[in-house]
Amino acid sequence: MEREDNMIDIDIKGITPFVTNQEIELSIAKALEAYDTLTSRKGRGNDYLGWLDLPADNNSSNQDRMKQIAAEWKSKAQVVVVIGIGGSYLGAKAALEALVHPFASELEINEGPRIVFAGQNLSQDYMAELMDLLEEKEYAAIVISKSGTTTEPAIAFRIIKNHLETKYGKEEAATRIVAVTDKSRGALKGVASKEGYRTFVIPDDVGGRYSVLTPVGLLPMALAGVDIDQMIKGAAKMRGICMDRSRGNIAVQYAALRNLLYGKGKTTEILVNFNPKLQYFAEWWKQLFGESEGKEGKGLFPASVNFTTDLHSMGQYIQEGERIMFETVLDIRQANRKYSVGSDPSDADGLNFLAGMEVEQVNKKARAGTKLAHIDGGVPNIQLEVERLDASNLGALFYFFEFACGVSAYMLGINPFDQPGVEDYKKNMFALLGKPGYEELGAKLKERL
Ligand code: PA5
Repeated sequence: MEREDNMIDIDIKGITPFVTNQEIELSIAKALEAYDTLTSRKGRGNDYLGWLDLPADNNSSNQDRMKQIAAEWKSKAQVVVVIGIGGSYLGAKAALEALVHPFASELEINEGPRIVFAGQNLSQDYMAELMDLLEEKEYAAIVISKSGTTTEPAIAFRIIKNHLETKYGKEEAATRIVAVTDKSRGALKGVASKEGYRTFVIPDDVGGRYSVLTPVGLLPMALAGVDIDQMIKGAAKMRGICMDRSRGNIAVQYAALRNLLYGKGKTTEILVNFNPKLQYFAEWWKQLFGESEGKEGKGLFPASVNFTTDLHSMGQYIQEGERIMFETVLDIRQANRKYSVGSDPSDADGLNFLAGMEVEQVNKKARAGTKLAHIDGGVPNIQLEVERLDASNLGALFYFFEFACGVSAYMLGINPFDQPGVEDYKKNMFALLGKPGYEELGAKLKERL
């Protein structure tokens, strides 16, 4: 396939010092078996495969409703609070960080209201400071929870619902709240029906961390002025690429290589970026792979670094610490803006040799130099390249990693779509908080504290 058609290119030169061609071929064959498990929809957790078809199903009436709300709130809300956690938070956060001007509010060039988040932690200070903002600004809220019972967003929603009703009155508040939740079940659905909120449905067969291309991710993006049609288009194109059953399938190749390296003791995968706009994309990626693969005593540990910033912190460990990791570099070929290094008559810093060079050119050399240094230090390198950071390519990246994650987890023999381990902390927290029904566990835990 032509580079242009692939949207994402995979460069594997950086792993050849560590594995043989034969090993790569064998791993790709295993990945193709896992691909068959995924696409035949016969593997474990197969009732959660709705995300596979999301970009192709393209629900345009949903998108129109999102754009209508965006247009309506643009004139009456300076801020929109998005309430959610985990899969009901990270996709939107990743997209907004990647695509929205970081200083839009200060420059007053926002395409829509400023988006802020709540319910993604239990920090009282965060909540209080957020309420300081909401006290001052005209605002609206989106509450996102598939189950409707997740503690963090439920607490934040209680506070914000109450504040909205006090500030605007119950009737107006109801026009300023949208709920994104399950079709029929769950506490949030009940509240939304009772209060008359507008709602969007999270499909039954799409789990939280695979939901970025549903209203969970798309509604906050639409409100911030992100081109959601382009995002879906990019994801749909990537779906076509991922569905191709061939050894050249980039998602199959990526899954094959990371599992091959895992088998060689490289148990930590570091997602590397050289653009701070991708910091939260890495957080989304970590949740996707961490929650999908980390079970039954198996799974690569997903980590991330933001270079060149972290070359001045984690760079030392990666170069010379324990040899347990490999790097997957998310390489954006072209910057969206141009900025060059200037010339200085005194040349006190000795950098005149760079005068006239674009900053991105310097960044590129940093990328190349880091790659070679880390390979020499024993860190295999997989490079994933996209042309530029825009809605279409981001949609493609979301879909690519979801697909690769499904293939990769099936290679490990794991159900990629459940998260039984997440329940343990919740049980303990409820017991320690004194939730009715948890008395016995609460007493046992208190003895241990
Ligand atoms: O990926 C997942 O399933 C989780 O991270 C959930 O998204 C997270 O726990 C939030 O769940 P809910 O949307 O039910 O509030």
